[in-house]
Amino acid sequence: MKIAVVGTGYVGLVAGTCLAESGNDVTCVDVDEGKVRALQAGVCPIYEPGLEELLHRNMKALRLHFTTSLSAAVESAQVVFIAVGTPQGESGDADLSYVLDAAEGIGRALRQYTVVVDKSTVPVGTADKVREVIAQVTKVEFDVVSNPEFLKEGAALEDFLKPDRVVIGTSSERARRIMGQLYAPFVRTENPILYMDARSAEMTKYAANAMLATRISFMNDIAALCEKVGADVDFVRKGMGSDRRIGHPFLHPGVGYGGSCFPKDVKALMATGRENGVELDLLRAVEHTNQRQKRCLLAKAVRHFGELSDKTFAVWGLAFKPKTDDMREAPSVELIEGLLGKGARVQCHDPVATQAAQRYFGNRVRYAPSGYAAAEGADALFLVTEWNEFRRPDFQRLKGLMKNPVIFDGRNIFDPTQMREEGFTYYGIGRP
Ligand code: UDX
Repeated sequence: MKIAVVGTGYVGLVAGTCLAESGNDVTCVDVDEGKVRALQAGVCPIYEPGLEELLHRNMKALRLHFTTSLSAAVESAQVVFIAVGTPQGESGDADLSYVLDAAEGIGRALRQYTVVVDKSTVPVGTADKVREVIAQVTKVEFDVVSNPEFLKEGAALEDFLKPDRVVIGTSSERARRIMGQLYAPFVRTENPILYMDARSAEMTKYAANAMLATRISFMNDIAALCEKVGADVDFVRKGMGSDRRIGHPFLHPGVGYGGSCFPKDVKALMATGRENGVELDLLRAVEHTNQRQKRCLLAKAVRHFGELSDKTFAVWGLAFKPKTDDMREAPSVELIEGLLGKGARVQCHDPVATQAAQRYFGNRVRYAPSGYAAAEGADALFLVTEWNEFRRPDFQRLKGLMKNPVIFDGRNIFDPTQMREEGFTYYGIGRP
């Protein structure tokens, strides 16, 4: 099939590349000329394992193209994906201006029946708005489909190529058939395509993310209580997760959720609730807990040291999670700003996010070339992002480098007993 993908951000680029991989002829469109030029030269603008390789392969096979010309890409396409950003608006709602601008541009370029797909995360009712905008500028036949994306950064290709499920929201039989053909290479009996109406599809995306955020905040609350009553949340987590009704995923307490989705989507769903007279009190609590959690390592450090102004701290991990350079809503930002605000010095290391982090901290922190270099002379080490390379350090070497052997483990990746044996003062999350 001939496909156009509007927007070469995370979602657009991954979707475009994977759809080319399954044999389609895909053209990705972006208004950012610099970005398109870089992509045409084979430079991938984001760090995502395996993406650059797949991009090159499909470009070489002439199945994947990049352009700034929306009309050229849309004219010949049978399916057009809208994958532009939906930034947070002033009252927490999703700002739809990029989506609706794209819809209008697509409408003007339509030449024959086309399926227009909302891939961006958009509030309930957006498919209807997109349909109205397109219908105002064209007489050509088209259908609008809501097809939310569930990919996780760091595992995006795997999530697209082997999804748990594909959600397709439309009332049009014709559009369903085309979308079914497009996704057939990726689905199996146990991970099916779920057909539904557009509003339910839009709601599914928000509800899924809000549920996952709720699980995390719930566990962070339980962890806070575990610390007080002398229980270890790591045992509690395993004990809970073994109940098949609960399951193990997303029960890891930590320094709070970040990224481009959970914080924004929880707020947007609450905004939809408010607009419709339904107060989503549970989500308000989820957010509140998350904000507290992002400050918990700083609070632990203040309790341990009292005054932080003459101290030097090592921070391992800056990205909001491993295998990405994404710094959006990263808990490291809250921690590092807190430390700097208290007059401390910060030496940090992240395997890939240093460049992205410079936009946040500039030269107010020292960027070390390795975890060990960051630990030199440090009064304590904060583990913020659980990159694999941080999991098994040489603790004696680390101890030799640090001024004080104190570790604040924001992801519970170290074993408290081993830490004690190695001579460290260890603080985890929800551990006695
Ligand atoms: C998420 C959803 O998982 C994905 O389906 C959706 O399309 C986009 O949002 P992503 O933001 O890439 O994906 O990351 P995810 O792996 O879900 O983690 C989100 C945040 O939750 C991270 O900050 C992570 O550290 C945190 N988290 C996750 C926990 O604190 N504990 C857990 O048990 C799991």
